[in-house]
Amino acid sequence: QTGMFTYDPGFMSTASCQSTITYIDGDKGELLYRGYPIEQLATSCDYLETCYLLLYGELPNPQQKTDFVNRVTNHTMVNEQMQFFLRGFRRDAHPMAVMTGLVGALSAFYHDSTDINNPEHREISAIRLIAKMPTLVAMAYKYSMGQPYMYPQNKLGYTSNFMRMMFATPCEEYEPNDVLVRAMDRIFILHADHEQNASTSTVRLCGSSGTNPFAAIAAGVACLWGPAHGGANEAALNMLEDIQKMGGVAKIGEFVSKVKDKNSGIKLMGFGHRVYKNYDPRAKLMRETCHEVLDTLGLGNDPLFKLAMALEKVALEDEYFVSRKLYPNVDFYSGIVQRAIGIPVSLFTAIFALARTVGWIAQLNEMIADPEYKIGRPRQLYVGATKRDVQPIDKR
Ligand code: SDX
Repeated sequence: QTGMFTYDPGFMSTASCQSTITYIDGDKGELLYRGYPIEQLATSCDYLETCYLLLYGELPNPQQKTDFVNRVTNHTMVNEQMQFFLRGFRRDAHPMAVMTGLVGALSAFYHDSTDINNPEHREISAIRLIAKMPTLVAMAYKYSMGQPYMYPQNKLGYTSNFMRMMFATPCEEYEPNDVLVRAMDRIFILHADHEQNASTSTVRLCGSSGTNPFAAIAAGVACLWGPAHGGANEAALNMLEDIQKMGGVAKIGEFVSKVKDKNSGIKLMGFGHRVYKNYDPRAKLMRETCHEVLDTLGLGNDPLFKLAMALEKVALEDEYFVSRKLYPNVDFYSGIVQRAIGIPVSLFTAIFALARTVGWIAQLNEMIADPEYKIGRPRQLYVGATKRDVQPIDKR
């Protein structure tokens, strides 16, 4: 027994397992990566430092950081053949459909040279995936826009490189604004890992069969897409825009009444959490980031941000939400920040997948490195028909 969970190596790949990576106290609203509070990491470190921490268990010293950044930088390009996978998609395909395909397609270039039980292979796979996800997300975006792909530039930092690949064109360079780059980098940090959420458990279970890490991460991308999970940031922004169309702040009461009506099936997207029964610490940091970005862009009176804060205030004072311990989660404000940066709504979950890739890999590698791990094989409690004989069809 380890605390709340029964530790069984056979379950290393599923929800109830032991880990040293991320700690969440849902009642206190506390989140630690390898013991460091998310508030400190989000304000004092950058995303690649956080990646190093999640992968190796310690924050890097200056030399370790330089070496790690160089390794990631030198793997940001993808095989030229990858662009032919994109051509098979309609231009208006959802970016998460494209990303599920592209990440799985990476297997085609590396699976035969990757033995997941080899620690060196696990490490280079981690570097390749962290390095290539921004390139793939930017390619998915450019493809949807009918614009040419922008190649990564090794002289740029990880997040600046991503934003340039997204927004530059051969006709016009993109000069990343430091505040926006910092905001994007903070979004990556806040989404980097989150214990045994649905997509992480998917990656562990998939990887426990010994499949290559690219295929296991592709399974995580597919699971994250769902609106109850990573798709909630897109759904939360669409919800705010719908309320805005209804009449904005004046219509919050009407919308909240629909949410409280069970028959409506309407949820307050970006609210509630399987573990947090208090304020998601990431949501607080995301709201602060909103202020910074909107003020920088002279959008301090952004109607959607004001609507989000008014909706949050109403919900936090409403017995329905208070009694059910429903608080804003990471997805409630992240869409407003990303929209202000210029990220299209349809790409929000792909950005979440980009950021979560390091957490998925760290959790996968932790499982595979455990000599006792076995393929995940959860059982079911059978409550179906008792044993019976087949009758000839003319007797049925
Ligand atoms: C993420 O697991 C992770 O860590 C995930 C994540 C990560 O980093 O990986 O944190 C990312 O997925 C965040 C969650 C994003 N999803 C959303 O914002 C979608 C909206 N939220 C709901 O779907 C819901 O809150 C869940 C699924 C997230 C959590 O559900 P819970 O905590 O298990 O709560 P529940 O489904 O048992 O609901 C408890 C009650 C129910 O009412 P009653 O049956 O008791 O009357 O609260 C209601 C629910 O109907 N409820 C909501 C609600 N969430 C729960 N009612 C209105 N709006 C909501 N958002």
